[in-house]
Amino acid sequence: MGEPISKSGCAIGQDSEYGENSLEAGTSFDHRRRLNPRNLLLLFLATLILLSASVYAAVLLTQTPEFMSLESAKPVLQKMGAGDSARPGPGVSSKDWQAWLQKNDAEIRQRLEAGEEDTLTNLLRFGVTFTKEYRIDDEYLVRYGQSSLVNSFAEKRANDLIKALAAPNGNQGLIEMRAFVEKKGFSLNSPAGRKQLKAYLLANLARMRKEYLQAQEQAKLNRDQMFQNRGISLDTNLWPDYDVDEQLKRMLDKGMLKPGSIRRVAVVGPGLDFANKQAGLDFYPPQTVQPFAVLDSLFRLGLANPENVELYTLDISSRVNLHIEAARKNAALGRPYTVQLPWYADGRWTDEFRGKFVQYWRSLGAKIGEPVAPIPVPEAAPGFETRAVKIRPAVVHRVTPVDMNIVFQRLNLPPGDRFDLIIGTNIFLYYGGFEQSLARVNVAAMLKPGGYLLSNDKLQDTVRSGLEQVMVTEIPMTGPPVIADKIYCYRRTQQDLRRLLDHNHRVLLRRSADGNNGEHVGLNFVPLLNDQALGFEKFANAGRVPAHNFFEDRDKNR
Ligand SMILES: C[S@@+](CC[C@H](N)C(=O)[O-])C[C@H]1O[C@@H](n2cnc3c(N)ncnc32)[C@H](O)[C@@H]1O
Repeated sequence: MGEPISKSGCAIGQDSEYGENSLEAGTSFDHRRRLNPRNLLLLFLATLILLSASVYAAVLLTQTPEFMSLESAKPVLQKMGAGDSARPGPGVSSKDWQAWLQKNDAEIRQRLEAGEEDTLTNLLRFGVTFTKEYRIDDEYLVRYGQSSLVNSFAEKRANDLIKALAAPNGNQGLIEMRAFVEKKGFSLNSPAGRKQLKAYLLANLARMRKEYLQAQEQAKLNRDQMFQNRGISLDTNLWPDYDVDEQLKRMLDKGMLKPGSIRRVAVVGPGLDFANKQAGLDFYPPQTVQPFAVLDSLFRLGLANPENVELYTLDISSRVNLHIEAARKNAALGRPYTVQLPWYADGRWTDEFRGKFVQYWRSLGAKIGEPVAPIPVPEAAPGFETRAVKIRPAVVHRVTPVDMNIVFQRLNLPPGDRFDLIIGTNIFLYYGGFEQSLARVNVAAMLKPGGYLLSNDKLQDTVRSGLEQVMVTEIPMTGPPVIADKIYCYRRTQQDLRRLLDHNHRVLLRRSADGNNGEHVGLNFVPLLNDQALGFEKFANAGRVPAHNFFEDRDKNR
């Protein structure tokens, strides 16, 4: 696998090794010298360096994100572009489109800062390592500014947090949050600076209250775009990983995925678990879990081979990307990566959900590492259970971070290198329908025909993208009022099938073995609105021809 890729597409930490200078040194080899054995050896080594540099460059090239072309965005611009500066229309020039992309990419990345403010506010609300004050749960949050009791918790929490940020030897999370506030210009070293920081923390809390109430309203309208006006946060927990595991099991049961069929996987927006918006746990260092949880599921279900699987994380956050890059560098030195796996056991989960989740949680990590003693849950965070897993360096090394904005960018992959599976949970809800539609086109371009996208956000489907929704799995978690998550499964359409189905008479043809005559395998194929590929499989499985044979035969005879 390649090295981590930076935004500019350079391999992080590799410039000096494979940069221009080393190539120049290679080409300056003096051919007029006599080719004695020593020189022959030098020539051989120089050729080897040149060769590996060019192979490396070729690999790198295929993993460098590109902004999407105007042509690929055109269907979205035709249907959803407004033709103004907020959303260009289909008549925009290629040059203006690229300029628009760059500007809006920067704006999306800018939203990470407000997301970091939210993480800091979650720490203020829930943190247990720096204070003994009551935690500000959602019920208290909505009363902030109106209840003197809640105001006083908030004040005291803010004072304690500032003390902890200012103290030397803070934990990793505090160190990162300190760096964030200092970058914003707050000084922890003067009373005036600390006073300003306190005002900032409390203003953020008031902002979070307002946004929380707005998001509740937005969720009633469209849960799948509910954070489109909020900062982009990195937070994560174990629920989406469990949901993905359930979905993969279902797909395996239904024959949609075959054992060993997944080699290249991408996780869009893996996130960083620290002080999340649900529970804000801060008693363990920031960590990323999703890429490893996904690998663990794939190995346990026999869907991927640990020897050759490759997982890429695609994220806009440099904190996430650098974190994964550091884990990879440590893995190269033989060091494992340890994840803490806390979950809230005192929730009002249904018996069914609890039983299945606990089974998942107990075995989580068994295929990628070994259990180790976890960091104990502090008394101030009652109701949580935890365990920890030390992940083998060889597994960590299978993960490569790529700095990429899925809304506007893509990896331009040759057909054989496209992904079998892309997972993106709790990411698309940070975007409106226009951005989701562009992201959908980018995901489709990176998937193999027949490859899948799994997301717990339903993507806008106004524009044809080459991705079709083929399954929805609902996972009820609590009793009434029911809280359920849903996993939407999208399949990359087979282009030829699409063309055939677009004919009015809907005739399917299969080539015979000699590749000449079309064999007629179906007439009057049932038009299925959003579900053609699945419909075809149903039809084919009804006894006429297995769907996969259809495509295998077609591919063989092309
Ligand atoms: C809330 S976290 C979700 C983490 C994890 N997937 C989960 O479900 O718990 C959102 C993640 O998506 C990333 N992200 C947001 N917008 C993105 C974009 N346009 N392209 C790539 N990553 C993005 C964020 O940086 C962050 O890592």
